[in-house]
Amino acid sequence: MDDTNRGRLTKDGIRIYETRDFAGMHIAGTLAAQILDDIAPYITIGQTTGEIDRLITEWVVASGATSATIGYKGYKHASCISVNHVVCHGIPADKVLKDGDILNIDVTVIVDGWFGDTSRMYVAGKLGRKAERLIQVTHDALMLGIEAVKPGNTFGDIGHAIQSYAEAQRMSVVRDFCGHGLGRVFHAPPNVLHYGRAGTGPVLEEGMFFTIEPMINLGRPETKVLADDWTAVTRDKSLSAQFEHSVGVTADGCEIFTLSPGGLFHPTYAQV
Ligand code: MF3
Ligand code: CO
Ligand code: CO
Repeated sequence: MDDTNRGRLTKDGIRIYETRDFAGMHIAGTLAAQILDDIAPYITIGQTTGEIDRLITEWVVASGATSATIGYKGYKHASCISVNHVVCHGIPADKVLKDGDILNIDVTVIVDGWFGDTSRMYVAGKLGRKAERLIQVTHDALMLGIEAVKPGNTFGDIGHAIQSYAEAQRMSVVRDFCGHGLGRVFHAPPNVLHYGRAGTGPVLEEGMFFTIEPMINLGRPETKVLADDWTAVTRDKSLSAQFEHSVGVTADGCEIFTLSPGGLFHPTYAQV
């Protein structure tokens, strides 16, 4: 089917996909999640983020999928790897992981034209107590946001669920980056804010596909982008964490397209 005419658009320009489209998103999302499962054993002290990305690139190709990020606005890698105070869009390089480093790995693949976008946190070596709490709160904030996804709720309800929880834990929500609609394209309306007031913003409808991907900081929320034009860091150098799922609104809630096949989404599960 012609991509641009698929489904319909709401007055806010948000595409409403059809029931049969969930299957394509499920396949793309599951592949992205499988790659994040498979990379877990390679997150070790002494490993480089470049080598992690090299493996991910290899697996995307081997699975017959396409990387959505290679060639995207000039980006050259199959993953973003954001270590410690890097908020997002960390560029894989020869940086060596050291004991206690926490990192987000973000992978987006295209399968049969459908985009699967997910990220999660990992640790090299021993997880420190503050980092563990940050990761736990960020994970739980995402899942609380996802619990707010059902027809009739609004995008503001999602942002409010995330912000009120994170701030009650004395952490801060990054404002400079947001989630996004996706489906047959990588980034589409709406901007999915991770903060906001309940009852505001567009109303959720069955058939909307989007990501929720909160970035939470231990310190202040402000970020800056480094001279490489990609790497976003916390201005106060505080630790930052992020989790991302791609979801589709169903009649009574949502389907998470990027569930971990191995149940490894949360890093502490991986240590069991
Ligand atoms: N996957 C990221 C997101 O969640 C986007 C990365 S774009 C890149 O939207 F070019 F930096 F890879
Ligand atoms: Co995304
Ligand atoms: Co992503």
